Amino acid sequence: MNIYRTKSELIAWRQQIAGPVALVPTMGFLHEGHRALIRRAREISDTVVLSLFVNPTQFGPGEDLNTYPRDVDRDKHIAEMDGVVTLFMPDTSHMYEADHATYLYWPTMGRRLCGASRSNHFQGVGTVVLKLFNIVRPTHAVFGRKDGQQALLIRRMVIDIDLPVEIVVHPTIREPDGLAFSSRNTYLDDSQRVSALALYSALSRCISLVRTGERNARVLNDTMNTVFETYPDFSVEYCEIVDRDTLKPVEIVTGRCMIAVAGRLGATRLIDNAWITEKEGEIRIEL
Ligand code: PAJ
Repeated sequence: MNIYRTKSELIAWRQQIAGPVALVPTMGFLHEGHRALIRRAREISDTVVLSLFVNPTQFGPGEDLNTYPRDVDRDKHIAEMDGVVTLFMPDTSHMYEADHATYLYWPTMGRRLCGASRSNHFQGVGTVVLKLFNIVRPTHAVFGRKDGQQALLIRRMVIDIDLPVEIVVHPTIREPDGLAFSSRNTYLDDSQRVSALALYSALSRCISLVRTGERNARVLNDTMNTVFETYPDFSVEYCEIVDRDTLKPVEIVTGRCMIAVAGRLGATRLIDNAWITEKEGEIRIEL
């Protein structure tokens, strides 16, 4: 496996590669969710690039940039075992010039859901992902549905600014009890780990109602909030059913929707979502 820490090494390598190149951007501390994206990338191309960069511009003041879990040796080992061809792991000072002053952002969609409480988060994500696309020049890039808003914003960016890359969105990988894998799960103590099921339980309850024919978003939201009340340590940040194209709340579940939930257990912020697609009366649910 090639391990590059500088853009020039990566770019020099890339110039010799023909055919599809699949990029999996991550902040490391790899778990089964990341590994599923790597496997998906390998189905697309033999040339898989994994980026591992804890991107400071997507963390707000007081957020967990300094405590974000890191284990580079373990990540290298996993990447190698999983068939990554090139691991790109630049230092922050190399990735961003000291006088960096350019950002990509979504003035409306980036302020909804997670963007409401994390005001500059998505401009940090957009900027680093665009930089990675320009450095790696992938033909495909794989993102997780776990970060549903992020995946939708990246797809929007590719359309809006005509980027020559295909975005692949991979399903959420979960622990056996339903909790979505997340690097931040390591922050949870035993009792918080139990309460973390609030997200999956609320989504599951909502989905079973949708399956029985309920389409009224208010009824569905009330049901999810009733589930949250049974997890007193869990403090809900948002619980919304939105249109996947605009991220605006819907009144009736129809077309392309996302049920998105976020909340805190102590200082740990967790998110989860499910996608509901209704076409000609047929309903597809992706949790
Ligand atoms: P990170 O949180 O490391 O996630 C990297 C990728 O893994 C994202 O596309 C995310 O959606 C996906 N992922 C995380 N948990 C998952 C799970 N349980 N199942 C499936 N996919 C999962 O997301 C980021 O990093 C950053 O914002 C990044 C895009 C790298 C930009 O800095």
